[in-house]
Amino acid sequence: MIKIEPKKISKYWNKLEKEDLYMCPNITLFRLLSINNVKIRNKSILDIGFGEGQNIIEFYKRGGKVFGIEIRQEKVKKVLNLTKLSKKRFKTADLNIGFPIFEKKFDIIYSLDTLNYLTSKNRHSTIKSALNILKKNGYFLFHYPQAQLVQKKKFDNLDFTINNSKYKKRKTFVPKSNPVIFLTNKYIKNLISSFSKEMKLISSIFDTGNFSKKDSSSLTINRFLLFKKIN
Ligand SMILES: C[S@@+](CC[C@H](N)C(=O)[O-])C[C@H]1O[C@@H](n2cnc3c(N)ncnc32)[C@H](O)[C@@H]1O
Repeated sequence: MIKIEPKKISKYWNKLEKEDLYMCPNITLFRLLSINNVKIRNKSILDIGFGEGQNIIEFYKRGGKVFGIEIRQEKVKKVLNLTKLSKKRFKTADLNIGFPIFEKKFDIIYSLDTLNYLTSKNRHSTIKSALNILKKNGYFLFHYPQAQLVQKKKFDNLDFTINNSKYKKRKTFVPKSNPVIFLTNKYIKNLISSFSKEMKLISSIFDTGNFSKKDSSSLTINRFLLFKKIN
């Protein structure tokens, strides 16, 4: 597995402080919770690495009591501005340095496409810290890009075929400066089993995302894992 360098991660995200991605809430996240009968209204919800804040704001609109953690101060300011909630709810923190303190317990804690920016040790300690502030029978969910397939095509070629000989599995995202790592299935299985006394896997699904530039198409397989805290 590729080694994560914490300084490279913070430098990469600090450069993107002002980036605005015009994001929408994640459909699969909300469907997955709904299918598993997870209630949102009046529940305390923590987003680890909330980015543009699109999901935490959707939870807020649906009646959730929302909280968050982000390395980028500008994103924290953005969410505070949009929700007008107390500053104490949204913490600026680098999870490769430490997990911030929340003096309360949560019903739902989730993290999309963020644990894959942490060192193995910090990924483990972040999950541990999250489980410490999750209520018994509360839900923990995380999501990560599992694979990415790239097909080079001319923009006026309308053909779309999912065929492994045409799609090339890539080890890194585009652009190459993005320090994300792909977590192997073996690693994920070990990670899950190391928390088997604290949480139980109740759903494992994937969805696909695509990001196409003028002359290429990429297909990302995103894995969602939903757990229930048992201890
Ligand atoms: C790929 S983005 C995903 C954002 C959001 N969860 C979403 O699904 O749109 C990863 C997010 O994690 C944050 N992040 C990356 N490394 C971090 C770290 N070490 N500590 C805290 N947040 C971090 C980034 O600033 C970014 O917002």
